[in-house]
Amino acid sequence: MSTDSESQDPAERKSAIVTRHEQAAEEVLPGHRELFIGGEWVSSASGETFETTDPTTGETLAEVQAGGEADVDRAVEAAWNAYEGTYSGLSTAERQAMLESIADTVDEYSEEFARLESLDNGKPISEARIDMALVADHFRYFAGIARAHEGRTVETDDSRHVQTLREPYGVVGQIIPWNFPLLMAAWKLGPALAAGNTVVLKPAEETPLTVLKLMELTEDVIPDGVVNVVTGFGPEAGAPLAEHPDIRKLAFTGSTEIGREVMKGAADNITDLTLELGGKSPLVVFPDADLERAVETTITAIFFNTGECCCAGSRLFVHEDVKDDFLDELAAAAEELTVDDPLLEATDLGPKVTAEQVERTMSYIEEAEQAGAAFVTGGSQPDDEALSDGCFVAPTLIEDIDHDSRAVQEEIFGPVQEVFTWSDYDEMIELANDVDYGLAAGVLTEDLTKAHQAVRDIEAGNVWVNTYNDFPAGQPFGGYKQSGMGRETAQEAVEHYTQTKTANISLR
Ligand code: NAI
Ligand code: MG
Repeated sequence: MSTDSESQDPAERKSAIVTRHEQAAEEVLPGHRELFIGGEWVSSASGETFETTDPTTGETLAEVQAGGEADVDRAVEAAWNAYEGTYSGLSTAERQAMLESIADTVDEYSEEFARLESLDNGKPISEARIDMALVADHFRYFAGIARAHEGRTVETDDSRHVQTLREPYGVVGQIIPWNFPLLMAAWKLGPALAAGNTVVLKPAEETPLTVLKLMELTEDVIPDGVVNVVTGFGPEAGAPLAEHPDIRKLAFTGSTEIGREVMKGAADNITDLTLELGGKSPLVVFPDADLERAVETTITAIFFNTGECCCAGSRLFVHEDVKDDFLDELAAAAEELTVDDPLLEATDLGPKVTAEQVERTMSYIEEAEQAGAAFVTGGSQPDDEALSDGCFVAPTLIEDIDHDSRAVQEEIFGPVQEVFTWSDYDEMIELANDVDYGLAAGVLTEDLTKAHQAVRDIEAGNVWVNTYNDFPAGQPFGGYKQSGMGRETAQEAVEHYTQTKTANISLR
């Protein structure tokens, strides 16, 4: 592992990081950090606030409102007023124009958004820029879809005319996580608004700032009450939204554990629901894979966004014929990665989002070590005094670990990959599928037949071949098994935000 500026004194680097972050915060923090309800910036009913921290420095970034049930009630009411008063009267062309304006705003301020995301979440600035390009592109994609989603006519006989209408639900609730804060908001707001719904959105308590900034910058673009944002904690602000009787559709991204809770909340009101949950995705290296490309893809699969990806390729299956060479190259590439201040251009891995997340990741690593697993590389927090106040974990590759162990079966959500060797294809597939999750997978081979076969055999909603973490708008994304239900980032998402009404008109 190398750092951006090894030659400098660690104490000097540390104070340079703090100065850089304080200055960036001054430049990019949103002016408003209140709740955004009915087009107004308001305090929480309880008057309570909480702090969001910069995981690189451990310092407080901003104080935001801790929303609760009363605030969720207000937001749901404002969303219904906006739905009935203005939004349901907008033409599809007007909805399209609004979504395009949101995309233009994200593009115009993309560098500010990227720096803010990097401060709040800890993601490297180079990756935050990728997020922002995707945010704008997803809003644009759904702007297009706003004009293209249609009902159909059903042929029976000449005695009737049967037709379907795709109608919005009215008010939808959206609960999003901290790993791609603004991108997850775009994935959810885009289709909901395209389909004609109004929204109450709860950002993750760890990373509320970019969504607030988006609301601030689009105040003149989005009619009042069409998007309402209630910041706050899961049990206080998320649960009342999930359980709200006036919410007609819910969308949640986060842990499988909380997904289950949200589903129970939705059950009381039979609220329609889509869930995008955790993963423990397999990445399979065939003996004929292009070695250099396979190493590069593996690095992206597990270390992109510091491993904080629901679809991270966290279980690596390498064919025994190439294992030694492959692992040597992979370990060397992992050790080349720059772990440093995420605001520096050269940084590959920033901190994890919170100290709690570091603890969680380290507990899996320690448990694996105690059970006799070996580290190909990493296995600790980086030994760099300049980063000692931040939430950093070194890129880690683990081998000799039992596939039934907790560290393999559960989502670690950090820069940690477990390595397995295979020789028999069927046995490998059985192991690859031997987890509760089924979100994504990767296949590395030059052989088209093998690739197609593996795509069919792996239980996952998304299988990448000779690539990974590629998210063009229009490609459906979502999970099999306990990774969730429903599909996002595509036409399917708009369908999830509409309900079908059938009109049967007698012609007799
Ligand atoms: P989480 O599932 O608790 O948080 C996700 C969102 O749900 C946040 O907005 C949170 O405030 C909200 N929430 C929490 N409790 C709620 C409740 N009772 N009702 C309604 N909403 C609630 O995830 P957390 O605690 O941040 O991370 C724990 C683990 O979850 C991670 O280590 C990771 O394994 C997994 N995770 C998976 C994500 C994914 O993209 N699939 C994203 C974030 C976390
Ligand atoms: Mg934060």
